[in-house]
Amino acid sequence: MHTTFFRGRRLRRSPVLREMLQETRLAAADLVMPYFVVDTDDKTFRREIGAMPGQFQLSLDTLKEQAAGAVDAGLRSILLFGVPKSKDPQGSEAWNADGIVQKAVRMLKAAWPDLVVITDVCLCEYTSHGHCGLLSVEGAVLNDPTLELLARVAVSHARAGADMVAPSDMMDGRVEAIRTALDRETFYQLPIMSYAVKYASSYYGPFRDAADSAPKSGDRKSYQMDPGNAREGLREAAADLAEGADILMVKPAGSYGDMIRLLADTFDAPVAAYQVSGEYSMIKAAGQRGWIHEEAVILESLLGIKRAGASLILTYFAEELLKKGLVR
Ligand code: PBG
Ligand code: ZN
Repeated sequence: MHTTFFRGRRLRRSPVLREMLQETRLAAADLVMPYFVVDTDDKTFRREIGAMPGQFQLSLDTLKEQAAGAVDAGLRSILLFGVPKSKDPQGSEAWNADGIVQKAVRMLKAAWPDLVVITDVCLCEYTSHGHCGLLSVEGAVLNDPTLELLARVAVSHARAGADMVAPSDMMDGRVEAIRTALDRETFYQLPIMSYAVKYASSYYGPFRDAADSAPKSGDRKSYQMDPGNAREGLREAAADLAEGADILMVKPAGSYGDMIRLLADTFDAPVAAYQVSGEYSMIKAAGQRGWIHEEAVILESLLGIKRAGASLILTYFAEELLKKGLVR
């Protein structure tokens, strides 16, 4: 040994060298920005979401304005959630060819053909009871009867021109049901990003306000995963892959880095991770109080998610980071 310095110490001396040697980097093409689009006659509608400062429920027109700014800043991909005019026990507005998500997809693809438009496929924003599937009279979520409805939703999004569908309902067998329905309509080329490892998480709180999708009774613990379980996630992911999923998603991202890594090491499919509403809210809240350096923490949180093995990150920070030039 010539010195007590480790190699890393010498290589950290210059900022340029540090940049050259950084193993994990964020890029615009890693990021997907979620938007909430509301079916309303008020064209100027734009309502800030209570616990998500900087995030809005948007009308078709204000979504177009918002997307224009984001695409200008380099945004490549959008995930769409819809808030319908009316709800019923089946969530039938979810597969209406003229529903709000279907209209938004058509608008976005007409304006920006290269933008990758992904749609969330679920029923909870559309059902009067707020669950992700059909309910029995006893209030249990009915797995199999829900599959056909989810398939209808996915096909309606595909017909509108979506580039990818992302089922988030967590019913067993839904990837196969959706794949079969898409293929029957000759959408062979349309990929499915499955919310494969989705936990029954308390981090979704602000989202349920944004998407008006809180269950009116009970919780989602019968169909979403227990936060204590890792091996079960492997089983969920393997099943979704076997059913035809193209991308596996882990959700939430921040508290589940082990699951991102486990999936990335176990399967040869791309892994996506969703930095969810509650993760956004916590960083924003602490940032607004000056308790943390907000921009630095945002970047560090996303770097951690990517370092864990995620190829795609769904994050409400995407637009802001691009607009500020913090990611390019
Ligand atoms: C709907 C859905 C949820 C999220 C994405 N799709 C909420 C839930 O399952 O209760 C959460 C996203 C977020 O919190 O940002 N199934
Ligand atoms: Zn749902």
